[in-house]
Amino acid sequence: MLLPEGLHIVEPHVSCDVTSASMLPAQLSPPLSNGLSMPQIQLGVYLTSGNETVRAVRWALEAGYRGIDSAQMYHNEREAAQAITEFLASEGNKDGLTREDIHFTSKLASNSSYEAVRRSIKQSVKTCGLGYIDLFLLHSPYGGRKARLDSWRAVEDAVDEGDIRIGGVSNYGVKHLQELMAAKPRTMPAVNQIEIHPFNNRSDIASFCQDNNILVEAYAPLVRAMRMKHPTVVSLSSKYACTPAQLLVRWSVQHGYVPLPKSVKKARIMENSEVGGFQITDEDMAVLDGLDEYLVTDWDPTDAE
Ligand SMILES: NC(=O)c1ccc[n+]([C@@H]2O[C@H](COP(=O)([O-])OP(=O)(O)OC[C@H]3O[C@@H](n4cnc5c(N)ncnc54)[C@H](OP(=O)(O)O)[C@@H]3O)[C@@H](O)[C@H]2O)c1
Repeated sequence: MLLPEGLHIVEPHVSCDVTSASMLPAQLSPPLSNGLSMPQIQLGVYLTSGNETVRAVRWALEAGYRGIDSAQMYHNEREAAQAITEFLASEGNKDGLTREDIHFTSKLASNSSYEAVRRSIKQSVKTCGLGYIDLFLLHSPYGGRKARLDSWRAVEDAVDEGDIRIGGVSNYGVKHLQELMAAKPRTMPAVNQIEIHPFNNRSDIASFCQDNNILVEAYAPLVRAMRMKHPTVVSLSSKYACTPAQLLVRWSVQHGYVPLPKSVKKARIMENSEVGGFQITDEDMAVLDGLDEYLVTDWDPTDAE
């Protein structure tokens, strides 16, 4: 199969070796439904100002991250992309990386008509100045059935025309995915980005996605720092000689998700990606799974009409 330059193809059934002590955020995720893959751990830049974004993205790329999660609504697509471009041209780019080695995500602010969404995607591509966007998501299911289906058709066409490489959705509940399936789209979303962590483990959506070959990206993987002192998190972090944040990122990776930890602090950006030196046992994964309290840290559109 001929792939656009820079796209990684991985053999089906070959998953990333999450036991590797050398696991870095540059390592690839399990394969997507279209045979492509993306970095296993990516930096989130929600609630990050323009200046903070430039610094955080630069630190992340220097620390080995290869994926950045932005959105139209974050108002930092330009700055995130600027930091990528500057890093690639800098002496810090010791491995001689090129644009194709970096995975940049953005998201549509609002579902709308086909034409408006096509225009909006083109505007995001122009704003970021990276030539194309690697992963473009419908940010939420809000807007009703017609807007969801029309917006998805615009994403499919944007993939065909090379504006974006991978299409996906975010905050889609099972019913939204079923609605899309019933409409028989040319392609299903390769990704569903949802809030997911031990305190909101979304087992219904996650298992539906995994059964249907839709990769789950985990937002708020650090529970927005709201449960760092939870006794179970503290005791398991001590057992595995890691930090609470590393335990939470590791939980996500071992479930086969792609976590998007956010930080504007250099030391934390590094810490959040250094999760290769230990493996949580099946028993302790079950203990963490059992912490579910349907904790919503931001918004919850998964049940939207
Ligand atoms: N699709 C969606 O609707 C949606 C919604 C929300 C988020 N997201 C994406 O997912 C990303 C992550 O979610 P999030 O930003 O809401 O939350 P998060 O990554 O779970 O948590 C971020 C919070 O944790 C703190 N933190 C980071 N590393 C830490 C560490 N090692 N120890 C202690 N505290 C730490 C951060 O503070 P500092 O920055 O000060 O370090 C920040 O307050 C977002 O940035 C965005 O890209 C998507």
